[in-house]
Amino acid sequence: MNPPPHLASPNGGLPSSVLWAQLILKDRLRPGDVAVDATMGNGHDTLFLTECVTPGGHVFAFDVQEAALIETRKRVPDEMTTLIHAGHEAMRAHLPAELHGKTSAVMFNLGYLPGTDKTLITRTETTMIAVREALELLKPAGVLTVVVYPGHEGGADEGRSMAEWAATLDSRRFEVQHLRPVNRAASPPELWVVWKRG
Ligand SMILES: C[S@@+](CC[C@H](N)C(=O)[O-])C[C@H]1O[C@@H](n2cnc3c(N)ncnc32)[C@H](O)[C@@H]1O
Repeated sequence: MNPPPHLASPNGGLPSSVLWAQLILKDRLRPGDVAVDATMGNGHDTLFLTECVTPGGHVFAFDVQEAALIETRKRVPDEMTTLIHAGHEAMRAHLPAELHGKTSAVMFNLGYLPGTDKTLITRTETTMIAVREALELLKPAGVLTVVVYPGHEGGADEGRSMAEWAATLDSRRFEVQHLRPVNRAASPPELWVVWKRG
């Protein structure tokens, strides 16, 4: 019997946007790297990033909900993570100055925290401030990933703004990809990936 494919969703199908983001980051992050989880939520992505940069690395994670910090703290080791109760639009101010331009990855998973108040969603205005700040934090060859949910309230607007912004990025400094399922009736999650040229 053939071994199952590595780059697949649990049902054997193509990777979801969330899984593509993880696959790309896992391939590029190294022990000792610094990464940012811009939308901590229940901490699954914070844990994922921590595992990618262990040993010796560090993950800074942001959320506006205290519940997210409480949930995430249960999953991730103290010494490798700084959990910040603040909006990602202030990420540059919260990261030590010596890490500006030295961060290997910034990961966004937009929308709301499953199982909680759906009104506490990411907002286009602050999201777009944050993705701009994220590019300033990245080191050469660093990667930004943004999963957008066009089917959620406000998600289509975030998707449009991401597309407009991505189109303005100088191709001599950044490479941008947009991955999305194209033959589904609903509006499935989409992934934006920005690679800062090394
Ligand atoms: C889809 S969830 C993230 C899922 C999470 N990465 C995980 O692994 O569980 C989106 C999160 O973004 C948070 N959020 C909303 N606005 C934010 C902001 N301005 N800055 C940081 N986080 C924000 C929400 O509170 C929510 O927890």
